[in-house]
Amino acid sequence: MEENKYKRTLITTALPYANGPVHIGHLAGVYVPADIYARYLRLRGREVVMVGGSDEHGVPITIRARKEGITPQDVVDRYHKIIKDSFEEFGVSFDVYSRTTSATHAETASEFFRHIYDKGGFVEKPSMQFYDEGAGRFVTDRNVTGECPVCHAQGAYGDQCEKCGSSLSATDLINPRCAETGNVPVMRETFHWYLPLDRWQPELEKWILEDHKEWRTNVYGQCKSWLDLGLQPRAVTRDLDWGIPVPVEGADGKVLYVWFDAPIGYISNTKELLPDSWEKWWKDPETRIINFIGKDNIVFHCIIFPAMLMAYGDGYQLPDNVPANEFLNLEGDKISTSRNWAVWLHEYLRDFPGKQDVLRYVLTANAPESKDNDFTWADFQARNNNELVAVLGNFVNRAVVLTHKYFGGTVPAPGELQPVDTQMLADVRAAVAALTDALDTFRFREALKQAMEIARIGNRYLQETEPWKVAKTDMDRTATILYMALQLCANLAVACEPFMPFMSARLVKMLGLGKPSWEMLGSDTLVAAGSAVAQPELLFEKIEDEAIAAQLKRLADTKKANEAAAWKPAPVQPDVDFDTFCLSDLRAGTVLECERVPKADKLLRFRIDDGTPEGRTIVSGIAKSYPDPSELVGRQVVYIANLPARKLRGIESQGMILSAEDKDGSLVLASVSRPVAPGAQIK
Ligand code: MF3
Ligand code: ZN
Repeated sequence: MEENKYKRTLITTALPYANGPVHIGHLAGVYVPADIYARYLRLRGREVVMVGGSDEHGVPITIRARKEGITPQDVVDRYHKIIKDSFEEFGVSFDVYSRTTSATHAETASEFFRHIYDKGGFVEKPSMQFYDEGAGRFVTDRNVTGECPVCHAQGAYGDQCEKCGSSLSATDLINPRCAETGNVPVMRETFHWYLPLDRWQPELEKWILEDHKEWRTNVYGQCKSWLDLGLQPRAVTRDLDWGIPVPVEGADGKVLYVWFDAPIGYISNTKELLPDSWEKWWKDPETRIINFIGKDNIVFHCIIFPAMLMAYGDGYQLPDNVPANEFLNLEGDKISTSRNWAVWLHEYLRDFPGKQDVLRYVLTANAPESKDNDFTWADFQARNNNELVAVLGNFVNRAVVLTHKYFGGTVPAPGELQPVDTQMLADVRAAVAALTDALDTFRFREALKQAMEIARIGNRYLQETEPWKVAKTDMDRTATILYMALQLCANLAVACEPFMPFMSARLVKMLGLGKPSWEMLGSDTLVAAGSAVAQPELLFEKIEDEAIAAQLKRLADTKKANEAAAWKPAPVQPDVDFDTFCLSDLRAGTVLECERVPKADKLLRFRIDDGTPEGRTIVSGIAKSYPDPSELVGRQVVYIANLPARKLRGIESQGMILSAEDKDGSLVLASVSRPVAPGAQIK
């Protein structure tokens, strides 16, 4: 077992940006896996510290503040609290959860920069950068938008086009504009300090490509492709007024780049937790550092932060593993804070109070460990109802209920074990071995499957031994079966603790078990004969269709609102000369009849009074917007009177009725503002 080489483990978790609440993607990608691992190591009696905090610098926070007319500090104060509360409520067992606006952090990050600076670890370089003269500030690449030079989509960001995925530099954009003000940016000279990653290329190559072949293939592969491209110097300062001031003479108006200060947050957090002993968690080779992150953070944790640590020197250790997850999507679409396409943790708790473990379970069972995965409410419901309720809850409930029924709630003393009992124990031990191995290698989906296997073994055991039948003839044997079943419940309480700590705590209490530890697993003497088992209570309850439908409705509403918000009028057609336009003969007429065209779900057949004795027939493709055609009879519509007739579904259509296409795609008939004589010309 790899971690035996080490004395202690420092678990770090990516610092979430404090410019929005946290959602299921955060939980699935970083915090649940980190928490599972931390809880597991604690159960094994290892020395562990898990650190985290909010990432409170960076440009998006300043933009949000300006938008709302508040200060960046107000923004981060608001979200830091929401985020911290969510983590607490979901049982994410941080030893410290701090923030990058703390004094300790400012001091630590500042010193970190200064130390590398003094060692000559940066290079200073002038550069040209976009400047917003109206606003009096430099604009980052991200905050310039324009036409993508690659795919020519509008609204590409200066650092990336979201349409075609090309990574850009703001100067590449066609017709650049400052995103916030709409001003045309100008070029201005500035200078920044760069971390010369190229200097560290050989060390990084050896450390990753040779010494850490065991890393997840997604992580290893991304690092390799960066290294193969050849590392370049990276700017670590910005012209911005929100962040940690660059602690160097002549650096007025410059702050540390957010990605420079944020990972140092891991160090500051450890310092805040352990002011006297933090150093051994960072500088002792017997400390094992594990960084839990999402895949968009890989380069920062595997290349840039390690290069910073090497540049600093002084014994700083590099992470031993960086088990980055891929992304979790929601109902087939990318989770997005700005588009409100997410399941927010604080809202989940409001809608599903007390069901933290259910979400932890579903997010682990479906964790995006090796590829992007999709969270769907249908899967959430199915896993709750078919796995947590039907497998785990059901097994524990049967064991406890039967103990009450036949032994008044007292753990019965077992007799001699039979092959079915020893086989069951052997199965449990095999599952425990597989569970432990999976946890040691950061395969948490597999680990959870093995923990659940213990419950499945339990159900099979009761199915095979049928204590409810045996009880009719042989109470001694019934005692043995239920004794064994209760031991299995105790094993489950321990094995599930890292994944579902709330359920585990309830089960521990129900069984009167002592403090759980990993060593207990596989034992058949965890609950003592003669001890009392509490009244059965359901560990999980069924989630009904209505609750799921409500969530799906909320998402559908969000989608509609997003589409409406994204709506823009269609581009204006090329000019047409006046005389040509005057050739179209537009008229108002009165609807005499209106009905659906059989077997054509879009078409309505109109009979129009156009002022002539014959009238005219027009077929129009608006049936979807007017489900009840009869209501149109008597209304006046506008039509083109001089189009050549054409046949639609065998009906001759003499003209075209005009309608406007609304934001949502629905068609709305054009009309006149008071009734006019049928056939009146529109001029
Ligand atoms: N705030 C960053 C993000 O959400 C993660 C920062 S991780 C740290 O992507 F290492 F910088 F702390
Ligand atoms: Zn593009």
